[in-house]
Amino acid sequence: MCEVTRLLGVIGYPIGHSLSPLMHNTAIRHLSLNQVYLPFEVHPDGLGTAVAGLKALGARGINVTIPHKEAVIQYVDELSEEARLVGAVNTLLFEEHRTFGHNTDGKGFLAALEEEGIDSPVGKVAVVLGAGGAARAICVQLLLANAGRLVIANRTYARAVALARSLSETISGAQVDTVELTPLALRDAVCSAQLVINTTSVGMGGSGSPPLPWELIRPDHLVCDIVYRPLKTPLLRQAEARGCRTVGGLGMLIHQGNLSFNLWTGQEFPLSLVRNTLLCRLKDEG
Ligand code: ATR
Repeated sequence: MCEVTRLLGVIGYPIGHSLSPLMHNTAIRHLSLNQVYLPFEVHPDGLGTAVAGLKALGARGINVTIPHKEAVIQYVDELSEEARLVGAVNTLLFEEHRTFGHNTDGKGFLAALEEEGIDSPVGKVAVVLGAGGAARAICVQLLLANAGRLVIANRTYARAVALARSLSETISGAQVDTVELTPLALRDAVCSAQLVINTTSVGMGGSGSPPLPWELIRPDHLVCDIVYRPLKTPLLRQAEARGCRTVGGLGMLIHQGNLSFNLWTGQEFPLSLVRNTLLCRLKDEG
């Protein structure tokens, strides 16, 4: 019997820095699957052609990354609830001549918290720094998981207001407030919160940390950063110095990948092997 190798991959522009091929191919090899995961650099002008081409070639599934997560929706036949609420797709599944769009980013974030032994966000207050695509995915999932209240702070305040309004309109019972992204404006929110989550790119490459009222950060705050280059961002270092529990961005990266992999293959990542492989790569990068 000649079994056909199944194609998986990721499309983005640019795509060179993606860790997804390493992550998925590590799992594929470990599980001895007849599959391969490839990176494809797809210019925005060619997005529709690329999706149609991958489908025609018999690909099983594709991750979608910046800048295509929103634009790709027009090529999807059916959206998952998360993808619809987030308004973005990070995973395509090709099945029975149809294209399904999922978004595993928010669930990946929650799975990373669970892996660290952090109990559910039910009833908790979260301060979310940032109002871009990642913030939206995390906010949607926190609200679906019955978080008590979200407070969104963003450099461009109008974007925070727009995100809060859209979340309140699309998720029934959602309690979402906004504040300016300054230490002073964040004081009340930080006092009442149990979670502080950075979804901005501040801290990437080790540069700076978001403006927080540090004197109000307590050891019982859980401080999360979605940035994973470096693994320990200045935000996480400062939070650890104040005795907080912290969760870095690597867990979310791995778990959103694992959830995509599960949709395509029905299997789970060997989590510690994938984590160690990524840690080696990131350490080599310096
Ligand atoms: P992603 O999809 O990764 O969330 P994005 O949609 O471009 O990317 O959002 C990036 C987020 O990081 C935004 O909240 C952005 O703030 P603005 O809306 O004001 O642009 C935030 N961000 C990026 N650089 C920042 C900086 N130097 N200081 C504060 N916030 C920053």
